[in-house]
Amino acid sequence: MEQNREPRIPFSLFCPPPQVTVSLIFAISIATIGSFQFGYNTGVINAPETIIKDFLNYTLEEKSENLPTEVLLTSLWSLSGAIFSVGGMIGSFSVGLCQPLWQAFVPMYIGEISPTALRGAFGTLNQLGIVIGILVAQIFGLKVIMGTEELWPLLLGFTIIPAVLQSTALPFCPESPRFLLINRKEEENAKEILQRLWGTQDVSQDIQEMKDESARMAQEKQVTVLELFRSRSYRQPIIISIMLQLSQQLSGINAMRLYNSFDQGEIGNIFMILASTLLLALPERQTSQKGDAPRTPTCSGDVRISGLAVALVFNSISTNTNYFVCIGAILVFVAFFEIGPGPIPWFIVAELFSQGPRPAAMAVAGCSNWTSNFLVGLLFPSAAFYLGAYVFIIFNGFLIVFLVFTFFKVPEVHGRTFEEVTRAFEGQAQDANRAEKGPIVEMNSMQPVKETATV
Ligand code: GLC
Repeated sequence: MEQNREPRIPFSLFCPPPQVTVSLIFAISIATIGSFQFGYNTGVINAPETIIKDFLNYTLEEKSENLPTEVLLTSLWSLSGAIFSVGGMIGSFSVGLCQPLWQAFVPMYIGEISPTALRGAFGTLNQLGIVIGILVAQIFGLKVIMGTEELWPLLLGFTIIPAVLQSTALPFCPESPRFLLINRKEEENAKEILQRLWGTQDVSQDIQEMKDESARMAQEKQVTVLELFRSRSYRQPIIISIMLQLSQQLSGINAMRLYNSFDQGEIGNIFMILASTLLLALPERQTSQKGDAPRTPTCSGDVRISGLAVALVFNSISTNTNYFVCIGAILVFVAFFEIGPGPIPWFIVAELFSQGPRPAAMAVAGCSNWTSNFLVGLLFPSAAFYLGAYVFIIFNGFLIVFLVFTFFKVPEVHGRTFEEVTRAFEGQAQDANRAEKGPIVEMNSMQPVKETATV
């Protein structure tokens, strides 16, 4: 199996193990405030729903002297909840257009400053930050804290505090050594920062790895979003990236929380998020122990498929009218979401593309995520208004499609290097070109490591 990896000298033999230094913890904590903001703004709107609806009702009545219809109220409410995703859509797209910004993207930054052996474990901090943000928003939204008629504007405005904190602290965080070396060619600077962050003098192996990447990058030209869709070798991975992002949002995760808040109460909601927080570390534990080669793909197909399958089953059960059955099903659904469809779409994009097309691919994937997030937020309340708990049958339909797609079309990337993954896609595109009129080449003809290792 190991023959598929680039040869690496084990850390433990030739260099002292990296330490988790104060500067590393500081930089990672400050970066994770971004993920916290994502979660806080996702979760904050649920708790004060009735209060905000009353406010809309009252304001509209004052203006037009007529009570607004229930349909208008629901639409305005949905728009208030979903509108923040538009910022995400614009933000994620600008990431593709502006290279330095892409480097500052939270998961990328964390990955680039973490020691190799801890990269997998620290990688989960993005999703953990999101979930903690949702949890804090739910707690602050309780009636005894800020979920009241007087305090709800403060509840929504609280987000400014972490924003100020992060903006003040960011200038004190080191720049990504990978960015400094590869983009700015500042090798000495990169080396110093690595030594400080990892508390070790010997970082030569990692510096060499960055230089190799830099050399590979020099041979590859940057790819635009249009080229991504035009070129045959990128078309399959970009479709996969978009489909996985859609499978995350159209699984109904954010809708489940919205529905849950007005049906089962705030405490059930908080419990659900707590459970997912505890389970979050599961998929990455494996990689963090192994200390994979840097930037080696991490997503196992089994985790992806089982996450989706269990999410599907328990999503269906959650339409059951019994309170306890419903809460239990939601907990299992969320737990499996957090080990499969939750974190993986964010990781896998970087793993399916090499340096040249990666920024454009990240932008397209991020934008698909936020667009589908926006559409669910906008349309779900009206659908739930008409269909009640049966609204989740729609998400089940989507989950079935995504499960089949993932099973047949998404290649196993775990244990493969980036080069192997991209070369396999290029090979398929060439085959498809040659056999234009012949049988369609399966994307999944990239076999899992186990099988290729025996060839
Ligand atoms: C993922 C999704 C986000 C969702 C969160 C729930 O990060 O991108 O929309 O709210 O998971 O855990």
